[in-house]
Amino acid sequence: MSSQRSRATPFLKWAGGKQRLLTQFEPFFPETIDTYLEPFLGGGAVFFYIYQHFQPSRVILSDLNEELINCYEVVRDDVHPLIERLQHHKENHSREYYYRVRGMQVADLSPLERAARLIFLNKTCFNGLYRVNSKGKFNVPFGKYKNPPICDQDNLIAVSEILQNVEIHLRDFGDCVQDAGERCFVYLDPPYHPLSVTANFTSYTRHPFAIEEQQRLARVFADLTAQGAYVMESNSDCAEIRSLYQDYRLETVQASRAINSRGDRRGPISELLILNY
Ligand SMILES: C[S@@+](CC[C@H](N)C(=O)[O-])C[C@H]1O[C@@H](n2cnc3c(N)ncnc32)[C@H](O)[C@@H]1O
Repeated sequence: MSSQRSRATPFLKWAGGKQRLLTQFEPFFPETIDTYLEPFLGGGAVFFYIYQHFQPSRVILSDLNEELINCYEVVRDDVHPLIERLQHHKENHSREYYYRVRGMQVADLSPLERAARLIFLNKTCFNGLYRVNSKGKFNVPFGKYKNPPICDQDNLIAVSEILQNVEIHLRDFGDCVQDAGERCFVYLDPPYHPLSVTANFTSYTRHPFAIEEQQRLARVFADLTAQGAYVMESNSDCAEIRSLYQDYRLETVQASRAINSRGDRRGPISELLILNY
């Protein structure tokens, strides 16, 4: 294993990020992984873990969030100019500057500037929460951090090196079926089905993830199973999801709610792992 493989860690903080669940996931991963697919990439915590522990020969990552996928592509293809842009953001960081950058129209920016903007906002916004409104605009307020890690140069370079070896696509999760074959490993981490009406955080993209999407995902899970892939999915532990996957192995892990503005809702909570093996 090269040193780069073990050094790279997620460069974005993402709602629903799995970094803190990895040790609980460990016993459930297959013994070996040759081809790895992650169609709800987000911050990629599971990808970074799998890449360094299993050394898969083929990796296919995708997500439907355009800003996110552009950012991965720029980290892969243009990391040094990106670092320069981030240094510039770092030098100018202030509340006023944050709102100026947040207010920029992404359509007017180059892919490089869009990637730097996303990383800058992600590191400096309230709670590191990526959230967009119905028009697809990033709408999180300023976060009062003393010294936010706007430009983690070493990690960005390490990430860029490992991304040279992976395929990255902007696409819907349903499209991963075409790439999945026998014995490949697919990890599905969709926006969770909400446990209550008020707990409705589903806005990673401008496309909402309602129950119909959960049902469509369950059909994709079945298609992947029929193709001989090993599939592991994370979702909320609730009656609707348990019923959708009643024919599969269901395990639970204990998560803490990392992103919740209400302190009284921060206790541990059971989440489902759905496995077809
Ligand atoms: C729970 S997050 C993934 C978190 C990630 N595993 C991590 O550790 O950071 C869910 C992701 O699904 C993406 N997404 C939402 N709808 C999608 C769709 N229809 N197809 C593909 N990705 C989608 C969102 O953009 C978001 O990045």
